[in-house]
Amino acid sequence: MSILTLRDKSSLFEQRAIWRAEGKRVALVPTMGALHEGHLSLVHQAKQQADVVLATVFVNPRQFGPTEDFSRYPRDEEGDILKLHAAGAAGVYLPTVKEMYPEPFRTVVYVKALGDDLCGAHRPGFFDGVCTVVAKLLLQVLPEVAFFGEKDYQQLQVIRQMVRDLDIPVEVRAGMTVREPSGLALSSRNAYLTTEERAIAEQMNKVLHRAATSILEQRMDVAAACDWGMKQLLQMGFQKVDYFALRDAETLNPVLDVSRPARLLTAAFLGQTRLIDNIAVNP
Ligand code: PAF
Repeated sequence: MSILTLRDKSSLFEQRAIWRAEGKRVALVPTMGALHEGHLSLVHQAKQQADVVLATVFVNPRQFGPTEDFSRYPRDEEGDILKLHAAGAAGVYLPTVKEMYPEPFRTVVYVKALGDDLCGAHRPGFFDGVCTVVAKLLLQVLPEVAFFGEKDYQQLQVIRQMVRDLDIPVEVRAGMTVREPSGLALSSRNAYLTTEERAIAEQMNKVLHRAATSILEQRMDVAAACDWGMKQLLQMGFQKVDYFALRDAETLNPVLDVSRPARLLTAAFLGQTRLIDNIAVNP
């Protein structure tokens, strides 16, 4: 069977009504396209949890700052549809910006505190854009379950909070970060990297692991390990490190030890390309 390609809200609502009438459990996998194995692993995971998987491909202008990469963000609609079909998604929703944000559009979904630091501090408005579009997608589709990757760990926690606060009737599930054999987390933005930059990017996950080991083996306290991690990334060739921080895995509050599950997170630039990664640090 071929994959349904839905381009406007009315065809989305019609299809949703058909699935509801058939008693189908629907899983949603929101994406910005330029799909890689990380996205496809979410589709595979979603297939285990639902009768039909609907992916969305929408490069959301509201989550890009004025000097960020919205216009050059990789786009490959045809390739994305083929990949989603091969992965077994039942449908893909590809709305235009106008369809998603008809003028005048005035609502912003803001999750306090959780979205204000780490990536939020360095990308003002980023999580407002993410939450606004994800809230819209969840309400348009009303899936039983929705999948988000752990690669964007802060995003995942912000979305969980928003879903709880707004009583959106959906179960949020996380998919583990998919990595290249080198440890480099798959990201659509890896396409921007030159060969030399890619070799530097591969160090990010290794530095996270070394810092985590130093903390767990109590060879360094948390502050010293994070400072070391930041300096290591700069030494390896990253030009700017936005943060290298240990946080509570759920609240994302700063932590000074690992008495509860924690997460070590970092964001750094290679040229114009901003890369993020994170790992679990468990007691
Ligand atoms: O993680 C992403 O690709 C995006 O932030 C999302 C969740 C699809 C919202 O645009």
